[in-house]
Amino acid sequence: MKKEIFFIANWKMYLSVNDALQFATENYDELVALANTSHKKIILCPSFTALYPLTNIFKETKIHFGAQDCSPHNKGPFTGQICAKDLKAIGCHYCIIGHSEMRQYNYETQESIAKKLQHLIDQNISPVICIGENKSEYDQGLVFQVLNEQLKEVFSVIKKNRGNSEKLPICIAYEPIWSIGTGSIPDNTHLENVFTWLVAQCQHIDNAHWKFLYGGSVNQETIYRFENITHLDGYLIGSASLDFQEFKKIVNYKSHYLTTSAH
Ligand code: PGA
Repeated sequence: MKKEIFFIANWKMYLSVNDALQFATENYDELVALANTSHKKIILCPSFTALYPLTNIFKETKIHFGAQDCSPHNKGPFTGQICAKDLKAIGCHYCIIGHSEMRQYNYETQESIAKKLQHLIDQNISPVICIGENKSEYDQGLVFQVLNEQLKEVFSVIKKNRGNSEKLPICIAYEPIWSIGTGSIPDNTHLENVFTWLVAQCQHIDNAHWKFLYGGSVNQETIYRFENITHLDGYLIGSASLDFQEFKKIVNYKSHYLTTSAH
């Protein structure tokens, strides 16, 4: 069975609302055509302010939308936050949580990630949970220790929701911090080991619909590097997703047609 490959564009805080609207209108036909390609899912994650207009523009299409974060709370005196329920209301079906930039600059903790995850599952929004080590942890051989720590709370939330999360894709995005925006990508042996390990960890939680993604310097020049990684289900793409022609080349890269589902 051919597996569906996810291409998640993380626009971070690069595009203004006007830039995002321009991106959408200039590339509308091609984006829609890309999203109609079989076994490929296109998910755009603009800033909060651009989400609503964009979900409206692409309402009748197969383009999916994700937020870059959500509140760990449901409702109440939480100035500046946006809850999962509201994201759902505007047509958002995915949400990135635990991104290393959020961990570094926005006090994201294992605890807040677990709370956000619960709210997303309650709203039937697919979480895109980012994990990954920094360079010094990588150099010290601590990768699996770090990932294990980052996944503990995640696993306990998923276990608690057995039954509710069966159909919902739960995306785990392995993003080595030292790879984000740097052009450095771990070698294939390392990637193969990480994804094999991830699959083994996640298998203990049966019934969840896991998707395993890689993020960090994915672009038109590096995409070929991932063609032999067995368990990969897709990519979280930052700066290369801001240029539609480059994004299209990544999505259309030949090997994505060839892989079969291993889990
Ligand atoms: P990058 O970012 O593709 O620009 O390295 C990836 C990410 O941060 O999700």
